[in-house]
Amino acid sequence: MSGLILVSGGAGYIGSHTVLALRERGRDVLVLDDLSEGHEAALLGAELARGSMLDRDFVRSVFEEREIAAVFHFAARCYVGESVEDPGLYYRHNVLGTLNLLDAMAATGVKRFVLSSTCATYGEPERIPITEDLPQNPINPYGVTKLVDEWMLRDFHTAHGIESVALRYFNAAGADAEGRIGEDHEPETHLIPIVLQVALGQRDKLTVFGDDYETPDGTCIRDYVHVTDLAEAHVLALEAMEKTPGSVGIQAFNLGNEAGTSVLEVIETARQVTGHPIPYTLGARRPGDPPRLVGSSARIREALGWTPKFGDIKTIVETAWKWHQARPKGYDDRGGR
Ligand code: UFG
Repeated sequence: MSGLILVSGGAGYIGSHTVLALRERGRDVLVLDDLSEGHEAALLGAELARGSMLDRDFVRSVFEEREIAAVFHFAARCYVGESVEDPGLYYRHNVLGTLNLLDAMAATGVKRFVLSSTCATYGEPERIPITEDLPQNPINPYGVTKLVDEWMLRDFHTAHGIESVALRYFNAAGADAEGRIGEDHEPETHLIPIVLQVALGQRDKLTVFGDDYETPDGTCIRDYVHVTDLAEAHVLALEAMEKTPGSVGIQAFNLGNEAGTSVLEVIETARQVTGHPIPYTLGARRPGDPPRLVGSSARIREALGWTPKFGDIKTIVETAWKWHQARPKGYDDRGGR
């Protein structure tokens, strides 16, 4: 198969692991990223068109200058709390940014799209594990904007024949097993990197946000899924669209491991992996945190043959630990921005 794959947000955490997966299959990749959050070093030499998704003329010019076969769209804001405080930021980046891409695709005849969506589109699910047919009732602007993206895909399919796959991730975690790239956010808010920063001595301790939830140990349960397994799912989605054009239409798949892990279980796993005691204190609940999010991935296993290779929490934490040990300051490129 040939053709250039445009990866928006390809310098970010999940985007960069997907760029790597594509290039390891010999695919041609062009990353579209403004490096506001991502890291040039995470591209490992992949070609970069530097600019903002919000710059409609820039986005359009990329599509006019290059023959693009498919689009993977990662560029987005993705923090629930921030989305509550500044919804405009989320509507601009996550709705207008996506619209600029889809408009450029429609204008230049590009027909294949893979969306980075989220379990946050379900809101507080009525049952666990979450299946794709459950109602999508997001409870924060982040989830709403991703749901609007999914709706746009429906309409652009009807009007312009753009086929798409929306991948609804649960909790992305871990790092490239060879330690070449990994997670580096500033500020970091995610549980596993924070726990590992404690193990590295970069933080004295962490705060566990609430131990009075209706869960076995009282802390929140999440479905952690390895970033390389997420990347593989994107490649499978593309291959399905390429195999029989028109057969995919518009589809949505959950990406999780169907395994719930509590905050205290993550800490315990990290203790075993790192050999560090990882002290913590108990704090208040974090607003907007659902007690339990676990996804069924039966649909994508069945439809695309997705088989996670790094499914258990210990392997996920081990790969993250390898990255954090090798690069305790992350990509260490903040001075340059
Ligand atoms: N947590 C702590 N202490 C911390 C950090 C996190 O106890 O210092 C807890 C959180 O309260 C939560 C769990 O660890 O219960 C996981 O939190 P993360 O911040 O790592 O991940 P979230 O589940 O909040 O967020 C993820 C994605 C979002 C997505 C969301 C859907 O990162 O993009 O799932 O709910 F929107």
